[in-house]
Amino acid sequence: MDASDIDGDLVNVLFTEAEIQAKLGELAEKIERDYAGEDLLIVGILRGAVMVMADMARAFSGHIEMDWMAVSSYGSGTKSSGVVRILKDLDTDISGRHVLIVDEIIDTGLTLSWLTANLASRSPASVEICTLLRKPEALQMPVDVKYVGWDIPNEFVVGYGLDYQERYRNLRDIGTLAPHVYS
Ligand code: PRP
Repeated sequence: MDASDIDGDLVNVLFTEAEIQAKLGELAEKIERDYAGEDLLIVGILRGAVMVMADMARAFSGHIEMDWMAVSSYGSGTKSSGVVRILKDLDTDISGRHVLIVDEIIDTGLTLSWLTANLASRSPASVEICTLLRKPEALQMPVDVKYVGWDIPNEFVVGYGLDYQERYRNLRDIGTLAPHVYS
């Protein structure tokens, strides 16, 4: 669906489908240049990163491998604890591999900070992060991000994998959710 299908649910459209696709093309080009001659494994973090993975992977002109992880904070409202539980681990042995974690958003930075350390302990050749969105004002933990699509204000955004109560993930654009939807 696109913004016109959910009329009134968004305050504004931050990034259109075309802008997102163009940005993913730019990111893929940079990544391919940086990893030229290397075997790259991109790791998508379920569930939000599905769209970014699917579209960015297809923007590469060469081979890449894909794997997935699912993680969750312990309990509800404990995201700020930074304690993360692995719900689905990699199927791939990453020892000696170049790994690029792909996510759709970095908010507090707690998830990716924990995940990077976890993957780094498995003796990969390298671990880097690519995120489509980042909220610099929400950051609680420093995260070294190699590839960022856009920095955005600390607002409730949905679409393109980002949900509110599991809805809006299939919105083609990314927009700011109207307060009346969640209050
Ligand atoms: C989102 C996103 C990151 C995490 C970032 O996932 O995909 O993994 O939150 O937040 P942080 O920087 O505050 O740690 P979410 O927990 O919403 O799960 P989902 O991808 O299944 O929607």
